[in-house]
Amino acid sequence: MASGHTPALTCELLAAELKNRQIDYSQLRFFGLDEWAGLAPEAKGSCARDFMERLIMPLGLQPEQYFLFNALAANLEEECRLMDRRIEAHGGLDIVLAGIGMNGHVGFNEPGTPFTHLCHVAQLEAVTTAVGVKYFDAGTAVPQQGITIGPAHLLSAGTFIIMANGEEKADVVRQAVTGAVDPAFPATMVQLHKNGFMLIDEAAGALLEEGNVMRG
Ligand code: F6R
Repeated sequence: MASGHTPALTCELLAAELKNRQIDYSQLRFFGLDEWAGLAPEAKGSCARDFMERLIMPLGLQPEQYFLFNALAANLEEECRLMDRRIEAHGGLDIVLAGIGMNGHVGFNEPGTPFTHLCHVAQLEAVTTAVGVKYFDAGTAVPQQGITIGPAHLLSAGTFIIMANGEEKADVVRQAVTGAVDPAFPATMVQLHKNGFMLIDEAAGALLEEGNVMRG
C-alpha cells in the first residue's frame, strides 16, 4: 500500500471493518510501497509514520506482519534486494493499493522507470519534491531520492489498484486510463494488468468518458 493523502480514508475504513466484523487478519502481511531516502521512520513526512499510525498500530500488527523500507540503510541498493527477497518469499504481492502522482508516478516509480524494474532507488522529479512539501513541516528539505517497490512487483500482483481522488487528479487519471501504455507515464502500467483497476471519486473521474467508468 502507498502512503500519502489518497489512502487515508481507505485505511481508516479498512481498520474499522477488520475490527468490527472480527475478521481474522493474523495471516495479513503488509508491505509499504515506498519511502523517502534518508528519512527516519518516526520523522514527520515519512511513509513509515503514515503506515504505523494508520494501519500497523490500529490493527496491532506484529513486526513479522509488516515490511517497510529502511531508508536509513547504509546501502539502499542492498535494502532493495532485501525487499525483493521478502516479496518473493511471500509468493509476490496479492493486492496493491497505490496512488498516483501529478507526473503519473506510482510509488516512487518516476517517469521513465522501465516496467521490468524490481525494488529500486529513484531520483525524484522536481514535481514530486514540490508536491511532497505538503507532507513535511514548513522549512524541512524534501528528500531528492526515494526507495520504492518497482513496476515488476506491481504488475505481478494478484490485483493492482490505483486510487485517486479530487479534481486535481482528473487529468492524470485520464492519462492513466486512456493514454498509450508507456513508462513515460508510469500509471499507464495499470492497463497491462489483467486485474488492474483505478478506484476514483467523481472529481478525479471528471475527464473520463462514461464508457471508461463503472460506478459502484
Ligand atoms: C506514497 C506514494 C506516492 C503517492 C502519490 C500520490 O507512498 O507511493 O506515489 O501515492 O504521490 O500522493 P497523494 O495521495 O498524497 O496525492
